[in-house]
Amino acid sequence: MPESNFSGPAVEVDKLSFSYSRQRVLDKFSLEIPSGISFGLLGPNGAGKTTLIRLLVGLLRARAGTILTLGKKPSPHTAHLIGYMPQLPSLYAELSVIQNVEFFARIYRLRGRKQRTQRVEEVIKLVDLWGHRNKSVTNLSGGMRQRASLACAIVHNPPLLFLDEPTVGLDPELRVTFWEYFTALTRQGTTLIISSHTMDDAAHCDRLAFMRDGKVIALGTPDELRQATGQAKATLEDAFLYFIKHGGVNKNVR
Ligand SMILES: Nc1ncnc2c1ncn2[C@@H]1O[C@H](COP(=O)(O)OP(=O)(O)O)[C@@H](O)[C@H]1O
Ligand SMILES: [Mg+2]
Repeated sequence: MPESNFSGPAVEVDKLSFSYSRQRVLDKFSLEIPSGISFGLLGPNGAGKTTLIRLLVGLLRARAGTILTLGKKPSPHTAHLIGYMPQLPSLYAELSVIQNVEFFARIYRLRGRKQRTQRVEEVIKLVDLWGHRNKSVTNLSGGMRQRASLACAIVHNPPLLFLDEPTVGLDPELRVTFWEYFTALTRQGTTLIISSHTMDDAAHCDRLAFMRDGKVIALGTPDELRQATGQAKATLEDAFLYFIKHGGVNKNVR
């Protein structure tokens, strides 16, 4: 089980504003994400998903507004409670898979050499890279790099895990495998926050926020969002287009 007794919302964002030089990306953005679920941030490129995730993990500072993750302001003291898989795998190219995962285990201060070795082995096996553990990152395929990146993000067993477009570029089989890992993690009690622009990922999430131009245009479970369109056979794509057309967060969907 991830080490956290916190049962309040995993994420609370209130009136957050953020700009890159002159471009405003988030304007008084508010969002609450419950603990213990998989939550999807769904939206096209440029919607502000990566910016929001970077703010939530503490890599960017907001100009105004507040962020609480597991009830605390992001700081170096809360870093061990958070896992982050960036949109582009940030691995040490010249190191092997096992060396990368060991490195992350050390920076997260996993205690005890024996426990650390065991956990490193466990996560590498979980992402099915044990047979490739001694290969350097340069010699891995794109899908293998993403699996190695996931192993690094979860090695310290964080109760709150941010995955920025984790399934982009994966073949359909690997995508299924990733969703099996993710489902297993939420079953253990981990809160997963996943960004994506594909509705295939969206369908796997417990709850979703549809995002566009730095705003949440709808919030709800995949079924609630589909049903809000009033069409029996609506897909999540249909629902997304419906909310773009009708604007604003649907009041019937919480
Ligand atoms: N480092 C940056 N500097 C300037 N503008 C940026 C930077 N990163 C993102 N942006 C801009 O901010 C907006 C939101 O981008 P981003 O958060 O990456 O969206 P998403 O992850 O949903 O594709 C886009 O218009 C993008 O061009
Ligand atoms: Mg992005």
